[in-house]
Amino acid sequence: MTELFGCNAGGLGIFATARCTPEEARKNIREIRELTDKPFGINQILNLGPIAKETIEVAMEEKVPVINYTLGKPWFIDQVHAYGGKVLGTTATVKHAIKAQELGCDAIVITGLEAAAHGEEATTLVLLPLVASKVHIPVISAGGYQNGGGLIAALALGASGISMGTRFAMTQESPVHNNFKQYCLKASENDTLRSNRFDGLPSRMLKTPVTERLARSRFPLAEAIRGALQIKQMLNLSWGQFIGMSVKMMTAEESHPIWTQARQAAFSYRAIKGIYDGDMKEGIFVAGQVVGACEDLPTVKVLVDRIMSEAEEFIKKEHSILAEMSASR
Ligand SMILES: Cc1cc2nc3c(=O)[nH]c(=O)nc-3n(C[C@H](O)[C@H](O)[C@H](O)COP(=O)(O)O)c2cc1C
Repeated sequence: MTELFGCNAGGLGIFATARCTPEEARKNIREIRELTDKPFGINQILNLGPIAKETIEVAMEEKVPVINYTLGKPWFIDQVHAYGGKVLGTTATVKHAIKAQELGCDAIVITGLEAAAHGEEATTLVLLPLVASKVHIPVISAGGYQNGGGLIAALALGASGISMGTRFAMTQESPVHNNFKQYCLKASENDTLRSNRFDGLPSRMLKTPVTERLARSRFPLAEAIRGALQIKQMLNLSWGQFIGMSVKMMTAEESHPIWTQARQAAFSYRAIKGIYDGDMKEGIFVAGQVVGACEDLPTVKVLVDRIMSEAEEFIKKEHSILAEMSASR
């Protein structure tokens, strides 16, 4: 578990629950608790309907210290606060960041255009200082980070910390299949694609023959049906439960239109094929532009230590440059 190693290396490890059932989430949460005494979080994509709600309920029953959500309305903030937990909202626009603060989030993750998966139109360099100037809760910057210089830049632009996805996916402990890790090692900063053809919302993926084809495709009906059936099987649902869940998903408050949900089903199928099976013919891999800067596969601890020591070096260097600049004025 990368997130566990993240906690033990001094970061806040966040376990993504979107690809498991609520009971699997519970099992993983308990396992994390056994292996670390550090705070940790879970991340849930809220627009996945009733299953997302159930997973959040499980996380609250388990009193997970940090609940991180994305793509939906956080109905659980008061309940999380009641047991002493914190809520971290992931957003990609100034408007949604302000809304997350109004709703009572303790901190926000703000995602720039360069990030893996769902960013909006503004890059980190523009978005982060803008958001930091508009909210008073801590802002964690996501999108494009992989080294100590990036951390210092984020702090200078108003962040309280950084969040990394692609760089952590490129570590020894990450469960991402080695086929994709090796492919990523050769990728440049231009080897990602952003399109709404992958899961119906604008998102960024590693550029491969599969994603290039998908980005040109029309509505993927056959894939959507296959993806939906895969989810039925993965979640071990009867046909009655599956139909009930589909109807609830279409009518839920935070729901997206049916064609978006069909694409999400197709996306899940391909993401599982890519990340876990390493299937280069059918699978896809979520990656940000920073993939071009991931040139090795360190352990999480080596990576976190490296970022911290680079940041310290960077501060010393910047101090001396500033001192020289002041002296010459
Ligand atoms: C393999 C992979 C899987 C991801 N899965 C999720 C997810 O389930 N939920 C989520 O909110 N973000 C997910 N993300 C996005 C990250 O949380 C993060 O916002 C993003 O990777 C930051 O940009 P970066 O890739 O430039 O570091 C994923 C990213 C990667 C690389």
